[in-house]
Amino acid sequence: MNANEKADTNAHWPAIRFTVNGESRTVNVPPMKRLLDVLREDLHLTGTKEGCGEGECGSCSVRMNDELVNSCLVPVLQAEGAEIQTVEGLALEGELDPLQEAFLQNGGAQCGICTPGMLMAAAQLLAHRPHPSETEIREGLAGNLCRCTGFTRIVASVAAAARSTESNPAMEPELEQTHHAR
Ligand code: FES
Ligand code: FES
Repeated sequence: MNANEKADTNAHWPAIRFTVNGESRTVNVPPMKRLLDVLREDLHLTGTKEGCGEGECGSCSVRMNDELVNSCLVPVLQAEGAEIQTVEGLALEGELDPLQEAFLQNGGAQCGICTPGMLMAAAQLLAHRPHPSETEIREGLAGNLCRCTGFTRIVASVAAAARSTESNPAMEPELEQTHHAR
């Protein structure tokens, strides 16, 4: 472990290593513990929310190795060596990500329970399809439920974020569109 790595240790369990938001992390936790719980309880990244706990609502969505996954369904063992991005990884140095800004400006968040998962699903979509159609936005967010907004404001938020990337080449994608593994 180098000086920049953080250890979250309970020596009773074997070490599991992965990267979260660009930072190397090591946890010693039961291998079948849910990634959602490891993020929230062991790494104190409480931005990721639990809704259904059954893979149905998308509230717990995170990006893992450039796929969108429901962290409530992922045993942390499967995250060994993975690169994970959570909602905490969107804002850089206190600056809101364009998606977060767009959700704020367009009323894309109300109660907020679905919002971290929506943002990660939208981030996954825009990483591969920077200027999606409304249909593509709806398809990209199809695994994420919202009980408050009626969805229209969320779609408008993602579209606004996509428009903002036209003047922000740093957000252009690296890869072709892939289907999400859920
Ligand atoms: S809490 Fe994971 S999908 Fe609902
Ligand atoms: S804002 Fe409340 S569930 Fe989406």
